[in-house]
Amino acid sequence: MSTRRRTLLKVIVLGDSGVGKTSLMNQYVHKKFSQQYKATIGADFVTKELPIDDRLVTLQIWDTAGQERFQSLGVAFYRGADCCALVYDVNVMRSFDTLDNWHEEFLKQGVRPFTLGNVPFYMDCTNGLANLSDPRTFPFILLGNKIDIDGGNSRVVSEKKAKDWCASKGNIPYFETSAKEDYNVDPAFLSIAKIALDNE
Ligand code: GTP
Ligand code: MG
Repeated sequence: MSTRRRTLLKVIVLGDSGVGKTSLMNQYVHKKFSQQYKATIGADFVTKELPIDDRLVTLQIWDTAGQERFQSLGVAFYRGADCCALVYDVNVMRSFDTLDNWHEEFLKQGVRPFTLGNVPFYMDCTNGLANLSDPRTFPFILLGNKIDIDGGNSRVVSEKKAKDWCASKGNIPYFETSAKEDYNVDPAFLSIAKIALDNE
């Protein structure tokens, strides 16, 4: 009997308040959706186990607060991440426009540079072990959520615009999702797990 190697992967989910970060996680982990909005305060994680190739991956998914007044508690948890999932709402332009800030802030807080001589290195500490991680290649993924609303008629960010943004950041993978209708949620998180595993 073969036993799978266990691997813990840490994923941080970031994006504006109300875009559906908590809902995506609840749909993925608990197969549940609620119409009611309850702001996330600080950060919390859920886990899900999934087999990938010869590994048994435990995906530790960190849900963070989009609301500014609750954010400061969240940044402490960025460090040691193996992947960062950015989420926006395809119906809200502002949530797309702020992606640059989330991207930048994550790199600043989660991937700290240090130098050897005068050569910059980028370190990311997982379980006390340091791996080198370069912000130019750190794995992000982008999710455009709430594509169910109004049958897609109220969307203000086109798929092309989103994909252009992804291309400009070094070919970030892109998924369009609906936490409400459980559309593309499993494929998006599977992709997140694979990307994080590759980065391990
Ligand atoms: P913060 O915790 O404040 O950062 O917000 P959040 O990003 O976690 O958003 P949350 O998941 O709480 O969702 C906000 C609201 O949008 C809730 O009322 C959800 O029911 C709703 N919502 C989330 N995802 C979807 C979706 O895919 N489609 C629709 N129609 N509504 C959604
Ligand atoms: Mg939330």
